[in-house]
Amino acid sequence: MRKKLIAGNWKMNGSLAANESLLKGLLAGLGSPACHVSVCVPSVYLAQCQALLAGSTINLGAQDLSQHEAGAFTGEVSAAMLREFGVRQVLVGHSERRQYHFETDAQVALKAGRALACGITPIVCVGETLAEREAGKTDEVVKRQLAAVIHANGHCISEIVVAYEPVWAIGTGKTASTEQAQQVHAVLRAQLRAASEHADRIQILYGGSMNAANAAQLLAQPDIDGGLVGGAALKVADFLSIIASAG
Ligand code: 13P
Repeated sequence: MRKKLIAGNWKMNGSLAANESLLKGLLAGLGSPACHVSVCVPSVYLAQCQALLAGSTINLGAQDLSQHEAGAFTGEVSAAMLREFGVRQVLVGHSERRQYHFETDAQVALKAGRALACGITPIVCVGETLAEREAGKTDEVVKRQLAAVIHANGHCISEIVVAYEPVWAIGTGKTASTEQAQQVHAVLRAQLRAASEHADRIQILYGGSMNAANAAQLLAQPDIDGGLVGGAALKVADFLSIIASAG
């Protein structure tokens, strides 16, 4: 049985004051969660959040990393740098990076490799746009995105986490139905099984307008092993409620 993971993606939100209040609120209400919990914070706040989360059960995550190891790459943050701040997980290939920063499947695969080489778990995000879904291309798109990471990372693939985030469901209030989500998760599971004998331990998260009201039903699906939560991860009560649904 895979233990579930609820990961918050703060995106470009927060401030020193807001982060402190959010994390203190979460820690006060968390108790002993039945699932793994992590928060992926903006890089500039890693040191602050590392200090606030020290000794807690909430893991620290980042939202992106460089595909390069080190050197003249102005503005970039390396896997080794993230590691120095206690980062355990990092998002790679989020649709907002693919869409607004033109990240390719090949770059996403390189980033996953950099994270793995530093002992950081990459949370590999895949997902189709509305136009791709309407054209019947959902399976083809998510399989292509995941295949790039599988081919570049070989036997390490059992160390990744996958997040299925249909682009049309992100920040829109539209959630994939439980059937739509489970169907894509099963496709991804089959692809992982073909690549690794340890595929059954890989967590596949759902993301896209997950909230306190819909989390339990999504998390009850056989291949949905957790959530990657955006907006609802910024509100203490909502995030705690989603975590409780993953029990
Ligand atoms: P929302 O939960 O705000 O739709 O965001 C989902 C997401 O992109 C998490 O990475």
